[in-house]
Amino acid sequence: MKRDPLNLNQKGSEFPLVLGRDVSGVVMECGLDVKYFKEGDEVWAAIPPWKQGSLAEFVCLSANEVSLKPKSLSHSAAAALPYVAATAWSALVNTCGLTLENSAEKRILILGGSGGVGTFAIQMLKAWGGHVTVTCSKDAERLVRGLGADHVVDYSAGPVELALGTLEKFDVILDNVGGDTESWALGLLKPWSGAKYVTLVTPFLQNTDLLGVADGMMQTGITVASKALKHLCKGVHYRWGFFIPNGAALDDISEMVDAGKIRAVVEAEFPFSQVPQAFQKVEEGHARGKTVVQVTGGGGDHAGR
Ligand SMILES: NC(=O)c1ccc[n+]([C@@H]2O[C@H](COP(=O)([O-])OP(=O)(O)OC[C@H]3O[C@@H](n4cnc5c(N)ncnc54)[C@H](OP(=O)(O)O)[C@@H]3O)[C@@H](O)[C@H]2O)c1
Repeated sequence: MKRDPLNLNQKGSEFPLVLGRDVSGVVMECGLDVKYFKEGDEVWAAIPPWKQGSLAEFVCLSANEVSLKPKSLSHSAAAALPYVAATAWSALVNTCGLTLENSAEKRILILGGSGGVGTFAIQMLKAWGGHVTVTCSKDAERLVRGLGADHVVDYSAGPVELALGTLEKFDVILDNVGGDTESWALGLLKPWSGAKYVTLVTPFLQNTDLLGVADGMMQTGITVASKALKHLCKGVHYRWGFFIPNGAALDDISEMVDAGKIRAVVEAEFPFSQVPQAFQKVEEGHARGKTVVQVTGGGGDHAGR
């Protein structure tokens, strides 16, 4: 119920709930006002929380959430990118102001580089010429270096904040890990230079679950504003990042994929009959990229996470 901001009063309307936020498939039908897409187009998209359900043959989306799929990728590979790409884009481009033009002179730290968001963010920032430092565990070092990471710090080898503290300070930090990271990470930024820390691990959902929509959102607003103010006094910017559906960003990313600058990192692929196993795999953590589910029947392959 709380996932759809336009239908807060409709009790129980979501069940049975169909999961799945990424999709790559074929357009079956378009609304009368849709001009840019036509039946038969191969498209990809990241679905907003209130429309989720890509683990089904069909999914209904607005034209501005959809983009033409990269030609160089299969549907399975393409389905591994939209959600993490749109999330990384929202955090790094919309929130931190990074662009193709200004990334070359930036030092960026990605905390948690081996998962879905991290493996995409490394590649996008390297395609834009940024200097990228990544934290991950030892066994993921080869993967993240292969994606372009300039410097890798093994967080399992000892206190990661000490190892990072010996490095030149950063312009941007993307935090995919959360927990106690924000107690030390902001000290790694260049103060009084516009440097930004953005975390994707926020208490937003927990607050609305615990306190309800209105009180939860108010609590969330108070928490983020007080933290932002506290860190602003120390000369650095503190932000929360959120997934935002963005077909236009996917158009840019599609070009980068077809130019060979970004690849899909698919760790595991399951047929639809093994959806429970796919979710079990995701729940076990230690992701090295993405897990994809193939759904046949509608006209494409769809990813679960
Ligand atoms: N705010 C939003 O809208 C939004 C959207 C998408 C995702 N998120 C959140 O963003 C986070 C990252 O998403 P994701 O899809 O990339 O997750 P993921 O695919 O599960 O990847 C997390 C990665 O972090 C690694 N890791 C765990 N602890 C670490 C540590 N202390 N230091 C460095 N790396 C560590 C994990 O591997 P090992 O455990 O083997 O090291 C794993 O590779 C998640 O918490 C997710 O819930 C938020």
